[in-house]
Amino acid sequence: MPDYQIAPSILSADFARLGEEVDNVLAAGADIVHFDVMDNHYVPNLTIGPLVCEALRKHGVEAPIDVHLMVKPVDRIIPDFASAGASYITFHPEASEHIDRSLSLIRDSGCRAGLVFNPATSLGYLDYVLDKVDMILLMSVNPGFGGQSFIPATLDKLRAARRLIDQSGYDIRLEVDGGVKVDNIAEIAAAGADTFVSGSGIFGFARSDDPNRYDSILQQMRVELERGASI
Ligand code: DX5
Ligand code: ZN
Repeated sequence: MPDYQIAPSILSADFARLGEEVDNVLAAGADIVHFDVMDNHYVPNLTIGPLVCEALRKHGVEAPIDVHLMVKPVDRIIPDFASAGASYITFHPEASEHIDRSLSLIRDSGCRAGLVFNPATSLGYLDYVLDKVDMILLMSVNPGFGGQSFIPATLDKLRAARRLIDQSGYDIRLEVDGGVKVDNIAEIAAAGADTFVSGSGIFGFARSDDPNRYDSILQQMRVELERGASI
């Protein structure tokens, strides 16, 4: 079975108790903390910045933090997130004037670099930079909000991205973000994804009075991933 990693998007967590929420979801078996940064310019919503990333590290979070930049421009904020403890930094190619430079800046800052593809954005942006990419993130919704429905055309795009990665021989993770839930994660895995962002699919399905609230949802996702691997 591939090395599947589950990355809860904290956008759907309870921000008033963020440290505790992240601790609980990691204790339940999540692998990566997905951290959505929105600027009310590249996308029509406003979220969190490097201060919050640093606060999570100071709180004791040791898991990889996957910073998904939905901001324009991107370069100015990259070193700030690197110093704040980001592990991955991904950005949308449309938001950078110099994609190759932004990717290099992320790696030079000591982080792993990724490109994010909106539903209508072509994978062609990868043609000349595949050697500079550690993560390809396919958006399965239009970016800006949690709780939207998975766009089915993403499955074909995942298959195309999986072929690209396998043919290249590079060690690149294939992440998917938007509308990922227990009931569709198996077919998404079968299409080639290995890293699964889920916000409302994890944080929205837990009872707040249950101390082990994320165990069951993550366990169900693992079972479905195993099924997906054998499709
Ligand atoms: C959307 C964000 C996602 C979002 C996913 O722009 O990039 O990470 O939190 O939320 P769900 O899983 O609820 O679609
Ligand atoms: Zn995201």
